[in-house]
Amino acid sequence: MTTMAATGSSAAVSDRDPLELEAVDSVELWVGNALQAAHFYRTAWGFRLVAYAGPETGVRDRCSYVLEQGRLRLVLTASLREGTEIGRHVARHGDGVKDVSLRVADAAAAFSEAVRRGAVPARPPWEEHDGHGVIRRSTIAAYGETVHTFVERSGYSGPFAPGYEARRAVDDPMPPVGLLDFDHSVANVELNRMNAWVGFYEEVLGFRLLQGFSDDDISTEYSALMSKVVADGVGRIKFPINEPAPGKRRSQVEEYLDYYNGPGVQHVAVATDDIVSSVKACLARGVEFMRVPDTYYDELRSRFSDVDVDLDELQTYGILADRDDEGYLLQIFSKMNQDRPTVFFELIERHGSSGFGNGNFKALFIALEREQERRGNL
Ligand SMILES: [Fe+2]
Repeated sequence: MTTMAATGSSAAVSDRDPLELEAVDSVELWVGNALQAAHFYRTAWGFRLVAYAGPETGVRDRCSYVLEQGRLRLVLTASLREGTEIGRHVARHGDGVKDVSLRVADAAAAFSEAVRRGAVPARPPWEEHDGHGVIRRSTIAAYGETVHTFVERSGYSGPFAPGYEARRAVDDPMPPVGLLDFDHSVANVELNRMNAWVGFYEEVLGFRLLQGFSDDDISTEYSALMSKVVADGVGRIKFPINEPAPGKRRSQVEEYLDYYNGPGVQHVAVATDDIVSSVKACLARGVEFMRVPDTYYDELRSRFSDVDVDLDELQTYGILADRDDEGYLLQIFSKMNQDRPTVFFELIERHGSSGFGNGNFKALFIALEREQERRGNL
């Protein structure tokens, strides 16, 4: 199932971009040990450290490391004390994505419009100054304990935000991974909650439904899920939303919800324009990827007989491919980025296709279930 079509939206065309969202500003993970997490994302994934906040910069209760690669910015934050919101979040969810923050022209206006449209406020607009200017932010609640912070940084020229100091990247002797930008992030929500969250993104953020497919399309012998994709008015920000569907055994979404103790971000997909080089670099750096059975490539050879890609090379590195009316895409999914079976990364190289690799879901699920079974969770 790879056909893509806008399947309608409750938002009128004139209502498509009510909050004037520009891009994903950053993805913040709350983790148990930010120093070590930063080392992992730098060493294994090739991010570079650009800014730091902690006791040395006057922040008493936490440490945050800001990493960048291409236009993607990760923030890794850990608590320094017991009894904090961050510490409680980590105890409950493990390391996970707290905030998918969205850059806007006006953080106060985006907040008031979002709240007027039904968003639950998480933190009303605030601003912070330092010698680099002013940054204005506001935060609304999303699924589970995940939030979206609206970030207005046009008046700010510092490395990240007040309280942070620039950190110069040390020379990285390993091959560059070449990740370019945020492509999409996927939410796992509870059974029967997917449509409510699709409605939230449509009604509150003015997103539109890009595509939907039923559980028939993504099921294996054992488990299934349902998924819909919402995107902002101009299609720069894409959020697929999954919910579990009944299967014979526990689905990977259920496993996620169990270990994360509720809804949250399942994976972050990052764009590259040379996925083979990116995967080679990641492998050299110690990243492990999900592997589909080799029979997948027998079937792929017939589907991709007229496309100019080196299928042997894809098979060597375990890269998946999918196509639709608009073009094709190449993608690969990492193993988990932390102990709990919750958050992982996807690398994606698009050639015209704006899909999400639906044709690969079944092969991927079988691979995921193999890992799940090894954990005794299937
Ligand atoms: Fe994805």
